[in-house]
Amino acid sequence: MNVTVLTLFPEMFSALLVGGIIKRAVESNRISIETIDIRDFAKGPHRTVDDRPYGGGSGMVMKPEPLAGAIRHAKQSHPGAFTLVLTPQGRLFDHGLARELARCAELILVCGRYEGIDDRICQDLADEELSIGDYVLTGGELAAMVVIDAVGRLLPGALGNEQSAQEDSFSTGLLEYPQYTRPRSFEGFDVPDMLLSGNHGAIRQWRRQASLVRTFLERPDLLLDQPLTPEDIVFLERLHRDIEITLDRHSTTS
Ligand code: ADE
Repeated sequence: MNVTVLTLFPEMFSALLVGGIIKRAVESNRISIETIDIRDFAKGPHRTVDDRPYGGGSGMVMKPEPLAGAIRHAKQSHPGAFTLVLTPQGRLFDHGLARELARCAELILVCGRYEGIDDRICQDLADEELSIGDYVLTGGELAAMVVIDAVGRLLPGALGNEQSAQEDSFSTGLLEYPQYTRPRSFEGFDVPDMLLSGNHGAIRQWRRQASLVRTFLERPDLLLDQPLTPEDIVFLERLHRDIEITLDRHSTTS
């Protein structure tokens, strides 16, 4: 995959190459990350990239001409690239979208700064606007790095262990089960006995049930649209019954 990032701060993206899975994916040519400085497409002695908003208001807006020049330049080298603008107004990025984007051969990521970018760029030259969450960052660069990280680790061979991408939180539609490593006992807390049993079937079942409980407690919204197996339903019904029995006992004794 090739990712071309359009930004006023190209040097920020060197952070992706400091270490870890994305650095390795770059070194093994699974992903190439190219940056284009939007300012290189600004005209005039000051190479201005921002201007005051029409209609008034505080802050500045990124001018359309340098952005359009940079996007067209990137598209010349990557005509089939899917072009995304990072903005808090965009479609919410999630694991499902990361998987879709991992199937693209080429991506162009456009990073805004200031109060935003001239909306005609989004209408005219982008395929989609993307937000990484309901909060406002000082620019799209960190958001673009989040997208590169989440998508890059899904590229074939990037993790070195395909199984771990399949068991990720969200790839099953549930939060991931708790993980432990040595020592067996740490500051008074022990690893659950089941994980030491060597019974792989029982461990798989324990992990699935731990995922269900964790998701139910932390993100019950995820369970609403999630296909559950007949075993999941039996487990949740048993849990439900046990909770009712416990509550009944307490309501009759209090
Ligand atoms: N730029 C500023 N805030 C952002 C966000 N939440 N997502 C994507 N790009 C942004």
